[in-house]
Amino acid sequence: MNHRYLNQIEVSPVGMGCMGFSHGYGEIPPEDYAIKAIRRAYDFGCIFFDTAESYGPDLLPENRGHNERIVGKALRDVRKQIILATKLHMDATEVNEGSSVYPVIRRHLQASMERLYTDYIDLYYLHRVNRNIPVAEVADAMGRLISEGLIRGWGLSQVDVDTIEEAQAITPLSAVQNIYSMVERGVEEAVIPYCIEHNIGFVPFSPIASGLLSGRVKAGSSFTHSDDVRKYVPQLNENNLKANQPIIDLITGYAELKRATPAQISLAWMLHKYPNVVPIPGSKNQERILENLGAWNVVLSDEEFAALDTALAALPVAGHRGFVQFEGEKIKDWGKK
Ligand SMILES: NC(=O)c1ccc[n+]([C@@H]2O[C@H](COP(=O)([O-])OP(=O)(O)OC[C@H]3O[C@@H](n4cnc5c(N)ncnc54)[C@H](OP(=O)(O)O)[C@@H]3O)[C@@H](O)[C@H]2O)c1
Repeated sequence: MNHRYLNQIEVSPVGMGCMGFSHGYGEIPPEDYAIKAIRRAYDFGCIFFDTAESYGPDLLPENRGHNERIVGKALRDVRKQIILATKLHMDATEVNEGSSVYPVIRRHLQASMERLYTDYIDLYYLHRVNRNIPVAEVADAMGRLISEGLIRGWGLSQVDVDTIEEAQAITPLSAVQNIYSMVERGVEEAVIPYCIEHNIGFVPFSPIASGLLSGRVKAGSSFTHSDDVRKYVPQLNENNLKANQPIIDLITGYAELKRATPAQISLAWMLHKYPNVVPIPGSKNQERILENLGAWNVVLSDEEFAALDTALAALPVAGHRGFVQFEGEKIKDWGKK
């Protein structure tokens, strides 16, 4: 397993998305189970962990930091050996007109560091660009935090090339974290090529398409918990699940060929496709976390990759995955693109 680089930050080729221990995929597991899961991932060789200040049950403001606390407890004694990525969510009302965003960001960072039991963050993302807070100002503040040694690098999440370019001109980015999977490939057009050209890492979130690409989500699955984003994911509704079955069949065939699982094939595919890609699959289940990390041992030959990629390109995708949009304190629409 060869490590990869998000600009200068060395990480395992697959990271661990920790969100599900606090938010987004139904009932959360007991804290000691979550902590053990994170430690098992570390023992397996994962050194890249992704969290965010907003990850807490139902994304309620009073639950902010829930996930960072768990990640912090799990990894505090190996802090120097790991790469911690977290994200800040800034509300426009926090920034007074004409005043700098730096003190606001610094305040968020301080709170995250306390919850994570650390005095620096390796990769600090702006979770969503807020139209009322110019990204150039955020980039400038991030540059100050880098020079102060409080963060090692910074990133943007769910952004287009214009936004990346504007930010990059002020303070070069270490990583962009956008949605990307075999069934959500918009970033292949411009965002990933831009990142490669500018030596920016690309961190796909929801790389297994919220479970779809594991082949284990069955038609008729009902996601009833209040904090389960899958009920808003069009690709997981019954019709789209059926229509997307040829994609699952395709990767299941490769999984049999490579003695792997469909989820691993979907991750191995993107690892082969791009040198700067480091996916962060999420799971609440200890065994599935290790399964996903094990994708770094599934090596597709150039011929296998080309055949898979060509076959995939010929298959239409039914529905999209959708993603969460923050706007101020409100969460806007999971289902909308
Ligand atoms: N930047 C952003 O705006 C943003 C947005 C969303 C997520 N994220 C980050 O990205 C990470 C990953 O995103 P995600 O959790 O949405 O993506 P995901 O890994 O595509 O989907 C997670 C879902 O897939 C299931 N799953 C995962 N691996 C599986 C396997 N091998 N077999 C069967 N089911 C499997 C999980 O179920 P089980 O738990 O039952 O295994 C869970 O329901 C998050 O943890 C978070 O850190 C960032």
